[in-house]
Amino acid sequence: MAQKILLTGGAGFIGSHTYVALAEAGYEVIILDNFSNARRDVIDRLEVITGAPVTCITGDVLDGALLDRIFSDHRIDAVIHFAALKAVGESVEKPLDYLTTNIAGLYTLLGAMQRADVYTLVFSSSATVYGQPENLPVTEDAPRGFTNPYGFTKLMCEQSLEQIAASDARWTFGVLRYFNPVGAHDTGLIGEDPNDIPNNLMPYIAKVATGELESLSVFGEDYDTPDGTGVRDYIHVMDLARGHVQSLDALLSEGTGHVVNLGTGTGYSVLEMLTAYERACGKTLPYRIAPRRAGDVACVYGDTQLAHEILGFKAELGLDEMCASSWNWVSRRKNT
Ligand code: WQD
Repeated sequence: MAQKILLTGGAGFIGSHTYVALAEAGYEVIILDNFSNARRDVIDRLEVITGAPVTCITGDVLDGALLDRIFSDHRIDAVIHFAALKAVGESVEKPLDYLTTNIAGLYTLLGAMQRADVYTLVFSSSATVYGQPENLPVTEDAPRGFTNPYGFTKLMCEQSLEQIAASDARWTFGVLRYFNPVGAHDTGLIGEDPNDIPNNLMPYIAKVATGELESLSVFGEDYDTPDGTGVRDYIHVMDLARGHVQSLDALLSEGTGHVVNLGTGTGYSVLEMLTAYERACGKTLPYRIAPRRAGDVACVYGDTQLAHEILGFKAELGLDEMCASSWNWVSRRKNT
């Protein structure tokens, strides 16, 4: 019988792509999402991609009674927890929302798991816990910190999981530190779909390419990087989704936890990303140099050895595939 996975936030950008990868790997998946940052028709599109019905429950991870009902109605073997708020700038404006959703939401979920004797969890963490690393590529044992409330919540969640795992060996956690997820499923049916003006680079460039936004503001060109603009480790969302399946496989088969970077190990600058997107869409994309954005670090990209050793993970898709899949997604969506 297929192992059954609860996917919180499964209608979101990374969650929906992970749903597809889990289905392809033979897992039975239940989505829980409050649709605060996802469109309801994602579920229909997931049914087209997978060719099968999708079980989706509308609700919030802060609703402990609902979680108890889900665990009582379904024999859940493990949970992948995406449901959280993730915009750095917004977290500075609304710290209490971020503390409640990201930290209390995790605690509520863990409590329901414990009551149901489910002790396997994949947790969506972020390279933001590294701040500006001293050494690059950044390894998992690098010092952690935070430079904003969002980063604080990710660090608090990681440290909470460490305490819980140390107290009771039944708990096994896969803590995955994402770098910069971008791109879209190759059908162009699902992708990054921010509700308003995007905070992140690639969805912003995508809207310049479709004409929805006028030009890209490049936040600073005086960083200590080859072309002066910020460097990040962009990873294709389908590589990231596959990494989640490999993490889950490892937890369920070996019963031991892990903390790994999920990145490509290669950094690209803002201008390199812009040039790659121009190749993908066949247009010249206007930009202007703007002041640095508060809280930004100059350069971060991940060491990928541990994920490869423990999970067998290796990103396969490069910058051109990331941009081409994003362009396919946004141009299809604009024409529908
Ligand atoms: C990338 C680069 C900007 C927009 C954040 C979170 C991180 C993760 C991913 C959740 C930087 C530059 C951006 C623009 C620009 N989220 N930029 N103009 O800040 O690396 O990471 O999102 O897990 O936790 O911190 O991503 O895409 O916002 O920025 O020049 O309009 O693009 O300065 O150098 P970031 P980003």
